[in-house]
Amino acid sequence: MELLEIRDLSVGYGKHPRPAVAHVSLQVRQGEVVSIVGESGSGKTTVIRAVMGLLPSGGRVTGGEILFEGSSLLGRTKEELRALRGSRISMIFQDSGAMINPIRRIGDQYVEYIRTHEKLSKKDAFARGVEMLERMRLPDGKNIMNSYPFQLSGGMRQRVGIAMAMTFEPRLLLADEPTSALDVTTQAQIVRQIMELRERWNTSVIIVTHNIGVAAYMADELLVMQHGKVVERGTREDVIQHPADDYTRRLLAAVPQMGGKRYVS
Ligand SMILES: Nc1ncnc2c1ncn2[C@@H]1O[C@H](COP(=O)(O)OP(=O)(O)O)[C@@H](O)[C@H]1O
Ligand SMILES: [Mg+2]
Repeated sequence: MELLEIRDLSVGYGKHPRPAVAHVSLQVRQGEVVSIVGESGSGKTTVIRAVMGLLPSGGRVTGGEILFEGSSLLGRTKEELRALRGSRISMIFQDSGAMINPIRRIGDQYVEYIRTHEKLSKKDAFARGVEMLERMRLPDGKNIMNSYPFQLSGGMRQRVGIAMAMTFEPRLLLADEPTSALDVTTQAQIVRQIMELRERWNTSVIIVTHNIGVAAYMADELLVMQHGKVVERGTREDVIQHPADDYTRRLLAAVPQMGGKRYVS
């Protein structure tokens, strides 16, 4: 069975006549990494926000269906979706540090997050947070918990964001441009960290990126979006070696090559 199945999804904003996302379909199996690639404004974020039930105000699903573990997400109440988020489906953003309140310690926010999903004392939740950071190979979890976000580098904040997102071992991780705000070295670390999630927990991942190099490195399956539509899809090899669409060729041409191989930039 597919873990996630999006069928013919269309999403519009306000009274705008052209849908932001039009007739998008995609399937994700357990443990599979699917990447959505496309330039800014192509509708990538809209697709994954629709899955999370977190479209910005004015955004609404105008057609199609989203099935998670075989049942529809679209009919669920706000409370049902809130319970699902974090536990079964998690999301990370370009700068997960940005969703963390800058004037509160990481630990206070992490403890609060854990306690919205599980009845634990503050002390136990703190210990759980430290344990999770260390399982994610972040050194000195306790020190991180006692830090303010601004005391950490962007890469470190992102790694903390991923650790938080994985706390309840969700089946599906939605990653929206998780490496775009980072320098090249840190990008590679984040990419490896996400790849490890599948090895350790068999987590499925949808990774949204405008960088087809990152997508090609990580994904089993690639979808290329342009103007709200899927213009190309296939296995990594298919899309990279034999791009059928001009737009995909242009995205590929923009990726630097090293030793004849496209690399994660
Ligand atoms: N909150 C919003 N209100 C109105 N239009 C929006 C909103 N968010 C996104 N859009 C529009 O939807 C389209 C797709 O945006 P988005 O999903 O953010 O693309 P991407 O993530 O690929 O950059 C764009 O044309 C954008 O202007
Ligand atoms: Mg986006």
